[in-house]
Amino acid sequence: MLPVLVAVLALALARAAVLPTCAPLVPAELDNETLTGLLGKWIYLMGSSKYPPHLEELRAVKHATFFFHPGSHPDELNVTEIMRVNETCVTRNSSTIQVFRQNHTLMHVDGQVTAMAHLIKSSKDLLILRHVNNGYPGLSLSARSPNVSKEQLEEFRAQLACHQFADDEIFLSSEKDACPEPGEQPGEEEATQAPQTA
Ligand SMILES: *[C@@H]1O[C@H](CO)[C@@H](O)[C@H](O)[C@H]1NC(C)=O
Ligand SMILES: *[C@@H]1O[C@H](CO)[C@@H](O)[C@H](O)[C@H]1NC(C)=O
Ligand SMILES: *[C@@H]1O[C@H](CO)[C@@H](O)[C@H](O)[C@H]1NC(C)=O
Ligand SMILES: *[C@@H]1O[C@H](CO)[C@@H](O)[C@H](O)[C@H]1NC(C)=O
Ligand SMILES: *[C@@H]1O[C@H](CO)[C@@H](O)[C@H](O)[C@H]1NC(C)=O
Ligand SMILES: *[C@@H]1O[C@H](CO)[C@@H](O)[C@H](O)[C@H]1NC(C)=O
Repeated sequence: MLPVLVAVLALALARAAVLPTCAPLVPAELDNETLTGLLGKWIYLMGSSKYPPHLEELRAVKHATFFFHPGSHPDELNVTEIMRVNETCVTRNSSTIQVFRQNHTLMHVDGQVTAMAHLIKSSKDLLILRHVNNGYPGLSLSARSPNVSKEQLEEFRAQLACHQFADDEIFLSSEKDACPEPGEQPGEEEATQAPQTA
């Protein structure tokens, strides 16, 4: 009995010790201003999930760029995704995001497949989503630019660790796997990029 109690106490203390670094994931209010702030281009950087099918998807997605456009009504966003799935570049423009303002939920609808997520409050140039797939948690980080600060990346990794995601459940996108965007000439990116001085 006593060893059990000691173990439980130790666990409670360990949790308490971990808590200060565990930033709470506060859902953002889905008002017009927030939704307008989501429009435009995002680059997926890192994701994690406890849901096996989602984990398989994250494993296969080497890079993803996506665009939110105004949809057919104020609570809808249209989505264009350009992804490298394994070796292949895939463009999808037929999915939407349905916004449920009352419970702070975004629902991605792709044909018959739906997935829900909460937008987490963060800096305006980051898009942090907490996914809720059949009760399994997931977290993803996207940003306006591929080169987010080291601090922002480390903060997100700390959040993942904090929410019990193991290293083998975390997948990073790689900028070298970016697919050409529509209207962009292959190789254009390299040609216009300033030489690296770092
Ligand atoms: C949000 O935007 C919609 C459509 O543009 C508008 O009908 C609605 O009144 C706006 N809501 C607020 C609180 O401004
Ligand atoms: C990606 O590659 C993995 C490993 O080869 C394979 O299991 C998976 O089915 C592929 N996924 C897609 C969507 O092609
Ligand atoms: C999706 O892309 C196809 C082919 O480029 C185009 O014909 C179609 O209008 C696009 N649909 C939307 C909703 O943008
Ligand atoms: C948004 O996407 C839906 C479904 O793909 C399409 O019917 C609608 O025309 C699109 N709306 C806009 C404003 O592009
Ligand atoms: C949010 O509300 C919508 C509409 O009532 C519902 O379909 C959805 O399951 C809710 N999402 C969550 C995560 O509670
Ligand atoms: C990378 O970040 C710098 C400033 O931090 C910015 O000027 C530059 O445009 C960014 N690169 C890309 C590709 O967004």
